[in-house]
Amino acid sequence: MMDAVRLDYGNLMATRTNGGVAPDRLSSDLAERFRAVHAAVEAQRAEGVLGFLDLPYAADTVDRVVELADGFAQWFEDVVVLGIGGSGLGAMALKEALLGPFWNARSDEEREHFPRLHVVDNPDPHTFGALLDRLDPARTMFNVVSKSGATAETMAQYLVARAWIESAVDGDKARGHFLFTTDPARGALRQIGEAEDIPMLPIPENVGGRFSVLSPVGLLPAAVCGVDPKELLAGAAMMDERCRSDALERNPAGILASLLHAYDQEAGRHIHVMMPYADRLRPVGLWFQQLWAESLGKTERLDGGSRPTGPTPVAALGATDQHSLLQLLMEGPHDKVVLFVGVEDVGLDVPIPERHPGIPSLAYLGGHSLGHLLDVERSATAEALRREGRPNGTLLLPRVDAHALGQLLMLLQIATVYAGALYDLNPLDQPGVELGKRLTYGLLGREGAERPSMEEPDPAWIL
Ligand code: PA5
Repeated sequence: MMDAVRLDYGNLMATRTNGGVAPDRLSSDLAERFRAVHAAVEAQRAEGVLGFLDLPYAADTVDRVVELADGFAQWFEDVVVLGIGGSGLGAMALKEALLGPFWNARSDEEREHFPRLHVVDNPDPHTFGALLDRLDPARTMFNVVSKSGATAETMAQYLVARAWIESAVDGDKARGHFLFTTDPARGALRQIGEAEDIPMLPIPENVGGRFSVLSPVGLLPAAVCGVDPKELLAGAAMMDERCRSDALERNPAGILASLLHAYDQEAGRHIHVMMPYADRLRPVGLWFQQLWAESLGKTERLDGGSRPTGPTPVAALGATDQHSLLQLLMEGPHDKVVLFVGVEDVGLDVPIPERHPGIPSLAYLGGHSLGHLLDVERSATAEALRREGRPNGTLLLPRVDAHALGQLLMLLQIATVYAGALYDLNPLDQPGVELGKRLTYGLLGREGAERPSMEEPDPAWIL
């Protein structure tokens, strides 16, 4: 299939690894189980629970995103996205993959006069302070992204940013430096936006943070820097179509979820490493880490039972982590599955000059290219792992562009909801992060929030 993101799962089969999944299971018990999983997910789609599956077809939203993005791109030199977790990681992934390295360091001409883009998640005063010191408030806009409109980190940054803009820009004009991306009906951001006539983009009610990258959450920051959101969504729609099949062997997200689930539950391979061989895809690994961890790390089961469960995702980078994690992946405990991400056509490449013919340890490199070196290293590492009986799969992108990214992100999101059904849990909620949030509110004095005592348990400092 031309232009398709492909999954090579050969090295996940028992024929090639120790204690792996036997190939005939893909047409027997795993296929049967998947048919039930697929039916359950399609039923949720029909009920309107899985809003992320509708995003590729939301033409009106895309038009509104493009309209706002065009306007902001003309007025502002710097766009700052404030958002954390699912409200920040998607924009980071799209920025790095589709704008490429050093976007913010490029000249106006090199950026074709699109703005610089900063995605700030952590409320670290050093980062935020240093960023504001470098920006011109008159030419800066903030896209505040929060589904709940209440997340302490993002709201605190918004308050700082608002005061910073108002200290330099006339009261009424200051509002024009903000765009809120938030729940269509609820929350403090929506309330402020409505009261002060600040432009807003909706995150559909049935789309949760970590499934929101293809909503205005990711589309606006990408579009404001010249990425065509329609290409992203066309890629996502193509993957959605491929995943309509309930035949396991034809459904890439089904194969991925079924194999990772089986390795975790049957073979003790609880650690799932995603390792792209492209700097541009490194944040995709971090985005996947959050998606997989927050969706599948659960205690409550759908059948009413309770049992802590969930694979541990790890974001790595090839070839860098060949010099860091690989020793552990090769010889450490048999508790990992590695998912490589490769790129067929790297586009811009850098040839390696032929030099030092008398030094064999260098001469062999000449005449190749840096892109080819990375790709060969990926294949060699996959083969080395296979020879050690270590399961690994490869997701292969035809190239790093909006269409392929749309496919990849949709594939991983669909795989996550399939995995949720396989584990018999709800992948859409995150009750485990709520307690920490509530205690933070209490400690900061939010009205009505429980104020915890920090005396208990007694701290045990070593001095
Ligand atoms: O995936 C999720 O739901 C979370 O990671 C949220 O995105 C994160 O907590 C931020 O929430 P909000 O968008 O409400 O600010």
